[in-house]
Amino acid sequence: MNILILGSGGREHAFAWKIRQSNKVNNLYIAPGNAGTANIGTNVEIKETDFEAIESFCLNNDINMIVVGPEAPLVAGVYDYFTSKESTKHIAVIGPSQLGATLEGSKDFSKEFMFKNNIPTAQYATFTKDTLDEGYTFLESLKPPYVLKADGLAAGKGVLILDDLNEAKTELKNMLVDAKFGDASSRVVIEEYLHGIELSVFVLTDGENYKILPAAKDYKRIGEGDTGLNTGGMGAISPVPFADQDFIDKVESRVIIPTMEGLNNDNITYKGFIFIGLMNVKGDPFVIEYNVRMGDPETEVVLPRIKSDFVDLLEGVAKGSLNEKSFEIDTRTAATVIMVSGGYPEAYEKEKTITGLDQATDSIIFHAGTQLKNNQVVTSGGRVLAISSFGNNMDEAVALSYQTIEGIKFDKANFRKDIGKDLKKYSPALK
Ligand code: AMP
Ligand code: GLY
Repeated sequence: MNILILGSGGREHAFAWKIRQSNKVNNLYIAPGNAGTANIGTNVEIKETDFEAIESFCLNNDINMIVVGPEAPLVAGVYDYFTSKESTKHIAVIGPSQLGATLEGSKDFSKEFMFKNNIPTAQYATFTKDTLDEGYTFLESLKPPYVLKADGLAAGKGVLILDDLNEAKTELKNMLVDAKFGDASSRVVIEEYLHGIELSVFVLTDGENYKILPAAKDYKRIGEGDTGLNTGGMGAISPVPFADQDFIDKVESRVIIPTMEGLNNDNITYKGFIFIGLMNVKGDPFVIEYNVRMGDPETEVVLPRIKSDFVDLLEGVAKGSLNEKSFEIDTRTAATVIMVSGGYPEAYEKEKTITGLDQATDSIIFHAGTQLKNNQVVTSGGRVLAISSFGNNMDEAVALSYQTIEGIKFDKANFRKDIGKDLKKYSPALK
């Protein structure tokens, strides 16, 4: 069959890499893709939210399946656009319906969904500019730190965690009254702060059946020791040493099963990935957020660990037969380290030539922010490359990625040198 992947980051390169390994695939296209995906399939210059252009491309190129990488097309309704039209309804779309995507598109919707379905999550209340005073009173009733979340999508920047009550009140006003995050903060969710350690669990579902994909931990801050500004993600590890089978079993019974039941009770069509951001609070899972797509950079460690034919699994999602599909996971540890442009996540320069990409290495090099210019691979984004490696344990996997990085150069390249370090205490054998 012919497959079109929407998106342009490391996640989409990992999708393309995994999909290409299947002998069920004939033509593979990526819109818009990057210099890495161009080596595996054909890049198409279409924005991932331009549904009309995607539609005519699909019809002209006999596309059978669209695999959606980022949230924006999902929240904009790509699933409903294609499945509701006579001319395109034969094309499988891997992703939730627009209503399903609201689990990521609105924090208030997702909190209400969790409470309605008894899914463990932090206590909360939602406010608008008309209820600002109630918001202040609610903040006064909480213990610091204070968690303020813009209801809508804010490019990963809409969550503020503040120690000082007065600062929290000022920011609440900035968000609600002064539209700090535009329309996204016309409603603000205020939450109780959860103390624990974070991880991500991923589920692939056809709406009825599901497979629990490998869990991963990502590293969001730019600086070593989890300091400095938030980024899209600086590295990831899978499996997560503190998420043993006992913990994953709790996630399944307390979070995944009630989530599936909640989707079905509300008639929410969902054929895609559910990314469950969790806090492990003394061994118990609490949901921080849902995303309706895979994580980036988590995909760059999760997909390499799936041994089964990924396209066969996606076909199961499309046809509602996921329960019949084989699902085998590599027991080794996968690590990824992200190489970023100097200055990221603030201002950075682009179009730096990248060398060393074709060195012989046992790592898998996924491109994130790259493009081809005069036949050379140059940087085009903040996150540039994801260097993924396997090991028999975490130390081996991480060491291999760092070894590969030594041979890859571009001007002002930066990366975190402590990926996985915080997890050693959970793996006594690695100390
Ligand atoms: P979100 O966009 O909802 O994932 O929030 C961004 C980040 O803020 C999360 O990855 C957590 O690190 C942190 N965070 C969000 N909500 C809470 C909470 N209730 N308690 C503690 N940390 C939180
Ligand atoms: N790595 C976090 C995300 O993809 O949202």
